[in-house]
Amino acid sequence: EKGGFRSFMDKEIHDQPHAVADTLLGRTDAQGRLVLDEVRIDESVLRSVDKIVVIACGTAAYAGQVAKYAIEHWCRVPVEVELAHEFRYRDPVVNERTLVVAVSQSGETMDTLMAVRHAREQGAKVLAIVNTHGSTIPREADAVLYTHAGPEIAVASTKAFLAQITAAYLLGLYLAQLRGNMFADEVTAILDELRAMPDKIQQVLDRAGRVREIARWMADTQSVLFLGRHVGFPVAMEGALKLKELAYIHAEGFAAGELKHGPIALIEPGQPVFVIVPSPRGRDSLHSKVVSNIQEIRARGARTLVIAEDGDEAVRPFADEVFYVPKSPTLLAPLLAVVPLQVFACELATAKGLDVDQPRNLAKSVTVE
Ligand code: M6R
Repeated sequence: EKGGFRSFMDKEIHDQPHAVADTLLGRTDAQGRLVLDEVRIDESVLRSVDKIVVIACGTAAYAGQVAKYAIEHWCRVPVEVELAHEFRYRDPVVNERTLVVAVSQSGETMDTLMAVRHAREQGAKVLAIVNTHGSTIPREADAVLYTHAGPEIAVASTKAFLAQITAAYLLGLYLAQLRGNMFADEVTAILDELRAMPDKIQQVLDRAGRVREIARWMADTQSVLFLGRHVGFPVAMEGALKLKELAYIHAEGFAAGELKHGPIALIEPGQPVFVIVPSPRGRDSLHSKVVSNIQEIRARGARTLVIAEDGDEAVRPFADEVFYVPKSPTLLAPLLAVVPLQVFACELATAKGLDVDQPRNLAKSVTVE
């Protein structure tokens, strides 16, 4: 059932173009308008929502962090993202005007389930973004938007992450349309961009030979750092999590802007650092700021492994390696940038002779608090 791949994880990484395409499928009407029939929460309630709180754990929480940037930008509603196990124990401000979005691949994560219950007790509406049909979280939520990633067997989450971002984006666009923040043609334009992503993800996979090679060379590495900014920040955290889980290597993800506030002290000669570079076509100066970060760490001897958009020549002088990904709108770029990081962790762990599908000490669904 591994379809010729060495591991389920490897297979699931390669399933990602389908996971995104299938999650987009069947969610528009004959006029191309976004319809999310599953969101069975009164439109009047959705219009009056004044805060969205995403609750999730692990990779699902990073998907939520990515979605925060898009949903706030499109809907002009504040979005908080909170680890489900922290949420319930801090007396959160949640009420009838809060939309709680619970994100979970398995639909069985106990921490997330308990947070769902807590939110509903406070009067909030809960919408679940879940991959597994018939699981517990959707049964207890007010509505469910399923991701269509297909079964995810490997303990480390990969295709579910991309599908969760996709589903959360559909929700954001739906809310923006409903609440009048976006015109129908603006929504359609972004949907078209989303539909173009599976091909681009495939291109990233097709180009992954070099990242595999580097991962094999780095099998003895003790520590890897990941830097990103804006939507690249949660991608950095996800890259670090994959490496911890699979390869048992110390890894940390940082917001690139935070570097000078502390983490730069970690940089010593030979320290590998992945840097996720935002598009140079972005609206503000984020690109040049991140390029300066690469320059700063390189000057201190870091080994810089850079993920950048096709055509971005500015990164080259400071990069030991550049992994180029196709051009995409800034908000959609995480669907591409994370893929080399997944491949890196999977390949490095395989090179160390580890079981990438069943890393030590971990369970696929964490059904205890
Ligand atoms: O099934 P869920 O999405 O609720 O699981 C949440 C986390 O336990 C999960 O993402 C975990 O962090 C994975 N091992 C990450 O690869």
